Amino acid sequence: MLARYWPGIDPYLSKVVFPAALTSDGFVLELPAEDPTLPYLTPGKECQLTGPLGQPVPIRPQPNVHLLLICSRSPHTMLPLAQKALDSGADVTLLLEHPYPLNSLDTRIEIRRGELLTLLTDHIDWAEQVCLDCMPGADLYATLQPILRNGYALFTETIPCGIGACQSCAVQIGKTCVLACINGPFLPLSKVYEQ
Ligand code: FES
Repeated sequence: MLARYWPGIDPYLSKVVFPAALTSDGFVLELPAEDPTLPYLTPGKECQLTGPLGQPVPIRPQPNVHLLLICSRSPHTMLPLAQKALDSGADVTLLLEHPYPLNSLDTRIEIRRGELLTLLTDHIDWAEQVCLDCMPGADLYATLQPILRNGYALFTETIPCGIGACQSCAVQIGKTCVLACINGPFLPLSKVYEQ
């Protein structure tokens, strides 16, 4: 989703936002305390939203399936998926690279924090589905090989228009180029580095 709630044209591009939680009458956004646009997001203030953009999360959680979520930044982009998986009876493990207020998370989520590659190596054998909040580097990608077919990477970079017009969110997937705002934002891991 694209959000705009500050006056003027600086920053020029709308902000790419992901709901941290869905509620009966809306959703929760999470923004870092150092975000320069935060002071403009006050109660009652009008917020211009575009979206949702792209396709639904392609992962279909099932009972007793182990879903691994790998977060190189704040995990809020993955939390709705984690909630959906838990509600479906799946087991969820969250691998975190950075500190996060863990008491705000569902207690049913198993949480591990540390260096992602080490954590992934320790947990890959148990995982049946995996989702990353970034495009994986070579080491992570190599470690993910056994589960690539059940994995997705989240495109979180800039999405200027969100409607397929500017081509700025083009990502090479296998032999073709896809638009993250139309075909994503979750992209199949099995094809991300396919030659
Ligand atoms: S953001 Fe413009 S084409 Fe995707």
